[in-house]
This record gives sequence, structure tokens and C-alpha cells, in this order.
Amino acid sequence: MSEPFAMRLERLAREAFDELAAACDLAALEAWRVRFLGKSGRLTEELKRIGTLGPEERPLAGAEVNQIKGRLEAALGARRESLAAAARETQLAAEAVDVTLPGRGRGLGGLHPLTQALRRIEDIFAAMGFDWAEGPEVEDEFHNFEALNIPAHHPARAMHDTFYLAEGGLLRTHTSTVQIRFMRHHAPPFRIIAPGRVYRADALDPTHSPVFHQVEGLVVGEGIHMGHLKATLKRFLEGFFEQALSLRLRPSYFPFTEPSAEVDIGCLLCGGKGCRVCKGTGYIEVLGCGLVHPEVLARIGIDPERDSGFAFGMGVERLLMLKDGVPDVRLFYENDLRFLRSLR
Ligand code: DAH
Repeated sequence: MSEPFAMRLERLAREAFDELAAACDLAALEAWRVRFLGKSGRLTEELKRIGTLGPEERPLAGAEVNQIKGRLEAALGARRESLAAAARETQLAAEAVDVTLPGRGRGLGGLHPLTQALRRIEDIFAAMGFDWAEGPEVEDEFHNFEALNIPAHHPARAMHDTFYLAEGGLLRTHTSTVQIRFMRHHAPPFRIIAPGRVYRADALDPTHSPVFHQVEGLVVGEGIHMGHLKATLKRFLEGFFEQALSLRLRPSYFPFTEPSAEVDIGCLLCGGKGCRVCKGTGYIEVLGCGLVHPEVLARIGIDPERDSGFAFGMGVERLLMLKDGVPDVRLFYENDLRFLRSLR
């Protein structure tokens, strides 16, 4: 075999191994393969050149080229393996999770204080056998006023600063509307509460909000009287405020009850001695109530000679403000988490 051929092969093999060691990704490996082992690669060119050698040199030269080809192919395979292993390592390192890190914790949401209060109120009445009723917030004059014995021009209408809707109708000013809607479709005896949102065109201030919540109560049946009313309210109020209370029924006036009363409880702060909260009276007003006016019953088709009933209505925000010492009704609607969490 001529010197130049053997030497060229040697040099080529060295170059090939050096370049292979420098190839650092799969694309570089492929370029390397094409350059040395491809159809017109440098080793293939040497193979073709064997034909130009003398016949006695050819077998040795052929064996040598093939031997180098085998070594290059083996080295390529090994290099490919090690690049793949390195890539796997990098990926595993990038995806590693440190299980010893402290957990992130879960921020649990909570029910709004008003929702919680409504649920508590519902639970207390449910335990006394009350059902639950509801009605629409967009109402008509009939359900909000007329059927409740508040005809047009009745002075009581002026006490309800009503939002009238441009397309007719109004936003209910109290949940007493549900009394009428319920009695239309249910015959006595029954006892219900009707919680819900009500609206009044009041300016927002520490004790007024144009939207607030009421719970209405209505019990109708034979022989229902003021004693039932007082006992029911006492049971409810003591459950809600979680303490024994002294109750006082003060004569009052609502067009849809006769007689009507306002209920005061002994002041939660001073226990009756007289303080800032009760304005020195020892009592705090908590709700309105009365015996359902016979007119209201008769108009809806219930015979007031046979059945009688009591009703009451209370503001949920006001009750909650008294119970938890909340100084400003607006806090319920601003949704500042610091306030909401303080009532959990
Ligand atoms: N509807 C009254 C109001 O919004 C509250 C009320 C008073 C409801 C007496 C009643 C009741 O059912 O009997 O001020």
C-alpha cells in the first residue's frame, strides 16, 4: 500500500475523532456523520479511491477503510448515547421538586357575615317549625303597598322612600310583600319566614344603606294571638343574641297589623342601666310586628273570623350591628377583608 493513502487515512481518522469530541448536540452529530460517513463523505471518498490502487494493495486498503469506518460508527453511537443521557439529566434537574420546601397553604374563602347571619336566623326559625318563602325584588304597587293596606296617598307611603322603575314597578321596600304572595297560594295554617334584599332611596350613611336585608315572618292559623308572637320573638332573639333578654313590646303603628308593636330588648351593652348605645333608655328597638290586619287577610281570601295571624319584620344588618358591635352599616358592603375576617 502506498504511503500517501495510509497516511491520509490516519489523518482522517484523527480529525474525525477530534471533531466528534467537539460535537455537542444532536444536530452537530448529524453534520459530522454526513461529513465523514455520508454518501459523499470523506471516508466514502477513500473507499472509492481504492479502485485506483494497484491490485495487490487493494485488499489491505479495503480492510483498513472498513476498520476505520467501524470505529467511527461505534464512536458516533457512543457519543449519541452520552449526549442523550446529558440531555435527560438536564431535564430531570429542571423538573426536580424539592419536597422538603414548606407548603404554600390554601387560602380558604368564607361566607359573608350577612350570609352567615341569614343562615343562623333561618336555622333558629327552622327549629321552631317555620318554612322558608321568597318573592321577587322587583315588585308592583299592589304587593308592596295596596295589599298591605297602604293605599295611594296613605302617609305610610312617604316613610318608604321608594325606587320606582322607569318601565313601571318598583324595588320592594320591605319583605312584607312575600306575606301577600305566600297567602295567595297557601291556605292556613302555616308559619314562614321570608329573608331577602330590600331597597330604599336613602343616602348611604353609618346607619342607612339603599340596599339592605330584612327577614319577614308570618304565622296564620286558628287562635293565633299576641302571646304566640311574643314567645316566638323571645325564643328567636335569645337564640340570635345568645343570651337571656328582657323583651318589651311598645305600641306602634303599621297599616298591615292591628294591633302593632315595636319590640325592644334590654340594652346589650349596659344591661338596662342606660348608656350611649341605648341613649340612656336601657332598651334598644330591634323589630316591628303585630297581628295581621283582618283587612289584609280578608282581601287575600282568608276568613278573619276563623283564622288570625301575627307578622314581624326585622333588619338583618341592624341585628348584626347590635350583636357584634359593628359601628357602620357600610362595612357590610365595602368588603374590606380585614372587617369580614373580624366577624368570622
Ligand atoms: N315592613 C316593615 C318595615 O319595613 C316591618 C314590619 C313591621 C313587618 C311589622 C311586619 C310587621 O310584618 O308586622 O318597616
